[in-house]
Amino acid sequence: MPRVRVHQHVNPLAPFYRFTPEPLQIENVFAESDLPLHLDIGSARGRFLLKMAEIFPAQNFLGVEIREPLVKEANRIKKEENLTNLHYEFCNATYSLDRLLEQLPSDVLQTVTIQFPDPWYKKKHAKRRMVKDNLVETVVGHLKITGKVFVQTDVDFLAEEMFELFRENENLREINLCENPFPIKTEREIAVEEKGLPIYRAMFEKQNKKTK
Ligand SMILES: C[S@@+](CC[C@H](N)C(=O)[O-])C[C@H]1O[C@@H](n2cnc3c(N)ncnc32)[C@H](O)[C@@H]1O
Repeated sequence: MPRVRVHQHVNPLAPFYRFTPEPLQIENVFAESDLPLHLDIGSARGRFLLKMAEIFPAQNFLGVEIREPLVKEANRIKKEENLTNLHYEFCNATYSLDRLLEQLPSDVLQTVTIQFPDPWYKKKHAKRRMVKDNLVETVVGHLKITGKVFVQTDVDFLAEEMFELFRENENLREINLCENPFPIKTEREIAVEEKGLPIYRAMFEKQNKKTK
C-alpha cells in the first residue's frame, strides 16, 4: 500500500488545529494499561514507536502527532500488526497535550521522546515551535519521578533553545549522554545520519522537587 500523502508542515497556530481532545483513557487503548508508558511527541508516521513496541512488549507506547492522516495510517498499521501496547493520537501538542493526558495516572509516564520536532527555523516562525515553556511544564507535570525526557535535533540553535527550557526546570536534572540510548532510530534521524550531519541530544530525569 502506498504511503499516505500529507502536507509537509502544518501551522499549529491555525484555528483548525486549536481543538480540545477528550482526555485519553489508557484502559481503552492498551491491553494492559498499568505498564510503563513511553510518549513520543511529533511521532509522524510512527515507525519509531512501531518498532519499539515490538521490541518492548512490557511497555506501552503512545505517539501524538498533529497531522491526522499520519495518525490514522499509523493506527491502521499497529492494528494489522496486532500490537496492543501501541496507540497514536491526533493532537496539537502545543495546545492540547495537557488536556489529552489529564486522566493519566501519576506513576505511569516513564519516558518522553521529542525527536527532530521542528521545521520552524525562521525567526518569524518561532511562535510555531513545539517546545515552549508550557510544553515542558506539561511533560514534567505528567512524568513520574525518575521518568526520563529525551530530546534530539539536527538544528544547533533549536537544540540550545529546547535544552535550555528543560534545564531551567527545577524538577529535572540533566543526564550525561554520549549517544542515543534507544535501539531504534527515527526516520529523520536516519536521513540526517546518512548526510553525515551532526545530531544534538540531551536527556533529563525527573526528581523530587528541590526544597529551598
Ligand atoms: C521533522 S518531523 C520528525 C518526525 C519524527 N519524530 C522523526 O524524528 O522522524 C516533526 C514532526 O512533529 C510534528 N509536529 C510538529 N508540531 C507539532 C505539534 N504542535 N503537535 C504535534 N505534532 C507536531 C510534525 O507534524 C512532524 O510529524
